[in-house]
Amino acid sequence: MDLVSEPIERYAEQHTTTPEPLLAELAQETHETLECPQMLTGTVEGRFLELLVYASGAGRVLELGTYSGYSALSMAAGLAPDGRIDTCELDENRAAVARRYIERSSHADRIQIHLGPALETIGRLQGDFDFVFIDADKPNYVNYYEAVLPRLSERGFIAADNTLWSGRVLDEQDDDEGTQAIRAFNEHVESDPRVTSVMLTVRDGVTLIRPKRGS
Ligand SMILES: C[S@@+](CC[C@H](N)C(=O)[O-])C[C@H]1O[C@@H](n2cnc3c(N)ncnc32)[C@H](O)[C@@H]1O
Repeated sequence: MDLVSEPIERYAEQHTTTPEPLLAELAQETHETLECPQMLTGTVEGRFLELLVYASGAGRVLELGTYSGYSALSMAAGLAPDGRIDTCELDENRAAVARRYIERSSHADRIQIHLGPALETIGRLQGDFDFVFIDADKPNYVNYYEAVLPRLSERGFIAADNTLWSGRVLDEQDDDEGTQAIRAFNEHVESDPRVTSVMLTVRDGVTLIRPKRGS
């Protein structure tokens, strides 16, 4: 199911700042050489992430699910001057593509790729996060959420990707593992009294979540 009609998606993309040439090249290589290129966030969501990071002044960003590095590089463009991004990826080949493009960018010293299961990496990383982008394996979404929620800084928040799962969340007959995991995550967040959240129909669904902090 298209969440937003194709002409409207195209119009939105045409009226979003064009990606840097390096990102365009990365998107092209991803489509030509990697499996599942639809996982790449792309122009609209990439700029959306950049602006979230910029507007929040985030200095410490954690990404779960690097893939070929498009979202990490997008977020880096919005980082505070001394900011940095830790990004987690399980697959060596995908991490290698990401590393190659990150090294060619002006953000090479601000993005660190952690190869291995993201939950283990979260456990090893020190300190709090200003912004966490959850975009790795769907069955672990609730685990990622529970692992990072207590680690958010004073004004820290989370963005979780693919929360509309191409509209499959509405199909009660769809008992695919990913669909069930996304549904479970959405219900978990919506019923969590500790947070305030909003589910946006950007691309494949993006949910923004912040702790209530007693207010
Ligand atoms: C949807 S893609 C990420 C897309 C990326 N954020 C972007 O916008 O270009 C999800 C990635 O998570 C990775 N992944 C899956 N399970 C993981 C795990 N347990 N730990 C870390 N990464 C994982 C996959 O290999 C895949 O590259």
